[in-house]
Amino acid sequence: MGTKPKALLLGKLDHAQETWNGLSPIAELVTSRARSRAEFIDECIRGAHDGVVAICDRAPSSFAATGRYDAELIAALPSTVRFICHNGAGYDSIDVPACTARGILVSHCPKVVDDATADTAMFLILAALRGFNNGILAIRAGVWKSPVPPPPLGHDPQGKTLGILGLGGIGRNLKRKAEVFGMKILYHNRTKPGDETMADGAEYVGFDDLLARSDVLSLNLPLNPKTRNIISTNEFNKMKKGIIIVNTARGGVMDEEALVEAINSGRVLSVGLDVYQQEPNIHPGLVSNPHVCLLPHMGTSTVETKTKMEECTIGNVRAALEKGTLNTVVPEQAHLAANL
Ligand SMILES: *[C@@H]1O[C@H](CO)[C@@H](O)[C@H](O)[C@H]1NC(C)=O
Repeated sequence: MGTKPKALLLGKLDHAQETWNGLSPIAELVTSRARSRAEFIDECIRGAHDGVVAICDRAPSSFAATGRYDAELIAALPSTVRFICHNGAGYDSIDVPACTARGILVSHCPKVVDDATADTAMFLILAALRGFNNGILAIRAGVWKSPVPPPPLGHDPQGKTLGILGLGGIGRNLKRKAEVFGMKILYHNRTKPGDETMADGAEYVGFDDLLARSDVLSLNLPLNPKTRNIISTNEFNKMKKGIIIVNTARGGVMDEEALVEAINSGRVLSVGLDVYQQEPNIHPGLVSNPHVCLLPHMGTSTVETKTKMEECTIGNVRAALEKGTLNTVVPEQAHLAANL
C-alpha cells in the first residue's frame, strides 16, 4: 500500500475540526509544534514536514508559527509542498510570486466573507455619518448624550453618494445594502469591467472622479504592491471637504499618517475603520479622536462566516489531495490552476 500524502494544519480550527478529521481517509493529517516562526523553519529544515503536499493555513492563529509567507519561509518549506490553502479572503500575508516560482498554488476564501464584511462597512458608514461614537463614549462616561460643548450633529445616508473603490464581491454586496439606505452608488475598479452585469447597475467613474464626487468613500480592494497607500495626501486633496471614509479592506491601502492630517485639517470629516497599517497598533491621532469609529479588525468575526471560511479552506485542501487542484485559487494563479 502506498503511503498517504500529508496535509499540515497550521493554526487552530475553531468550527470545522470534524471536516478536517474527515480528510483522514485520503491524507495523513499532521500539525506543527512550533511556537514561533524560527521554530517552524527549524522543523522544516530538520525534515519534520517532509512529504507534506498541502498546508491548511488557518490564519490568523497560524501567524505565530509562520509570520508572513515571504520568500524566506517559502524557500524553507519542504519540496513536496504544492498547495497553501489560506483561511482568509485577503492574502497579502503570502508572497504569491515566490509561491509561483516554487510551483506552489495558493487558495483563498472569497465570497464567503462578502456579507459579514459588507455588514461591517455599512455599520461603519452609519456610525461615521451619524457620529455615533461620540454618544457611545458619552454614555459610558456618565454624561448622557454629550459632553460640553456638544459634538457636531451627524448626517443622514439618504441622498448621499457612496463611492466604492474596488467592486468585487464585497463591494457589490455593500452596494445593495447601501441602496436600501437611499445612497447613490459610484464605483471605480482598476480592471475596468468587461462584463457590465458585474457592476449590478452601479455607475463606473475614473479614480479621480470617484474621489471628487463621493460624500462617503468605502475601500473594498485587496492590498498588494499596486494598491499600497493608494489613498494618501494627493488623493485626500482631490476629495470633497467633509468626506466620510470607511475602510474594511486592509490598513495598508490608506496612508494612516496622511489620514490623520486630513482629519485634523477638516478635509475628512470622519472615518470608520476596521483595519490599520500596523495592527494591533493604531495611530494615536485616531485613538484620541472621539468622532471616529474604530473596530479591532472584526469584519468577518461571526460564527457563520468563520465556519464558512474554515469549510472553504478545508475544501481546498480536499481538492488539492483528491484532484491535484484548488477550488478557489488566487486570481494571480488562475491560469496555472486551469492548466492542471
Ligand atoms: C473589479 O475587478 C475585480 C478584479 O480585479 C473583478 O473581480 C471584479 O469583477 C471587477 N468588478 C467589475 C464591476 O468589473
